[in-house]
Amino acid sequence: MIRTVKAAVLAIAPLAISTSSSKRGLCYVPSSKYPQDDKIWTDTPGSDLSWYYNYQSEPSSSYKNSDMEFVPMLWGASDSDTGTPFLDSVKAQINGGANISYVLGFNEPDGTAATGGSAVPAELAASTWIAQIEPLKELGVKLGAPAVTGAPNGFTWLQDFFTACDGGCTPDFIPVHWYGNFEGMASHVGQVMGTYPNMTVWVTEWGFPNQKLEATQEYYNMSSEWFDRMENITHYSYFGAFRSDVSNVGPNSALLTQNGKLTDIGSWYLGGAAMHNVPKGDSVRMARFAGWSLVVLATGVYMVL
Ligand SMILES: *[C@@H]1O[C@H](CO)[C@@H](O)[C@H](O)[C@H]1NC(C)=O
Ligand SMILES: *[C@@H]1O[C@H](CO)[C@@H](O)[C@H](O)[C@H]1NC(C)=O
Ligand SMILES: *[C@@H]1O[C@H](CO)[C@@H](O)[C@H](O)[C@H]1NC(C)=O
Ligand SMILES: *[C@@H]1O[C@H](CO)[C@@H](O)[C@H](O)[C@H]1NC(C)=O
Repeated sequence: MIRTVKAAVLAIAPLAISTSSSKRGLCYVPSSKYPQDDKIWTDTPGSDLSWYYNYQSEPSSSYKNSDMEFVPMLWGASDSDTGTPFLDSVKAQINGGANISYVLGFNEPDGTAATGGSAVPAELAASTWIAQIEPLKELGVKLGAPAVTGAPNGFTWLQDFFTACDGGCTPDFIPVHWYGNFEGMASHVGQVMGTYPNMTVWVTEWGFPNQKLEATQEYYNMSSEWFDRMENITHYSYFGAFRSDVSNVGPNSALLTQNGKLTDIGSWYLGGAAMHNVPKGDSVRMARFAGWSLVVLATGVYMVL
């Protein structure tokens, strides 16, 4: 494992930067204050983004007619759930002609509500998966395993989940979340690949929060380049599709400035050139968000570290 990870990191250095990629998607964070920002991801000429998710089972109204493929998510589960609303919704979308190739399992089920997790016990996640997600396999939909946090207990949670599934959960790919430096991420992804060699990897949230602008850009360059080159990382979506003054991962991580313009990272992410729009934070807000607290979304879904 360690050898694999080192080799993967060392392989970075000599290769040229590619700014365009078919693996990129939008991790959609709606802004109730600036709904016009939604269009940036689809209307910027040459945008690379080919898919999106919004932490929910139904597509977002802004993207109903877009070229981005929607990836439904079953965000969480509770003991009081009845019926199979997620399964029914995805089937109805497919029957209505939507191209649903993939779905995503639970969002940070090992994390508590205080950090944006869905806090689903592994046994409940397993029974919910078997009832609502596994049946999609026979419709040809590829299944994304629960997306645990990057913390060590994420691995424990997944192990408990597969034990509780008792062979009844067969995800095709495994989503990864990571907030931290590049070496830590490469090592973490290496550990995921080593633990679950039968699944491809999607990096569905990642970033290096609260760094200086140049360090953030360097990190973005290294990680996106690495994802592009790793054959078994098939999809990735950066956590930052919001304005810098409302960012809970530091202003320099955001893909938009406080004025709603693409930052350099934002433009690179879409396959374009540097814009030289420098992101700024909001000093009041930054103080309020200090300590890794949350962005509360208009939808009532909490975003996620
Ligand atoms: C559906 O999406 C998949 C994967 O994103 C793509 O390969 C396929 O061409 C799409 N099919 C249609 C009919 O658009
Ligand atoms: C991949 O491995 C996990 C655990 O080792 C297993 O439970 C799961 O069903 C496997 N997925 C497939 C598609 O075989
Ligand atoms: C990629 O994943 C497949 C199984 O999904 C595995 O057989 C193959 O060895 C992996 N390739 C690399 C380079 O890890
Ligand atoms: C990041 O990559 C872009 C090209 O995509 C390049 O212009 C820029 O200088 C790089 N920045 C850093 C800090 O590596």
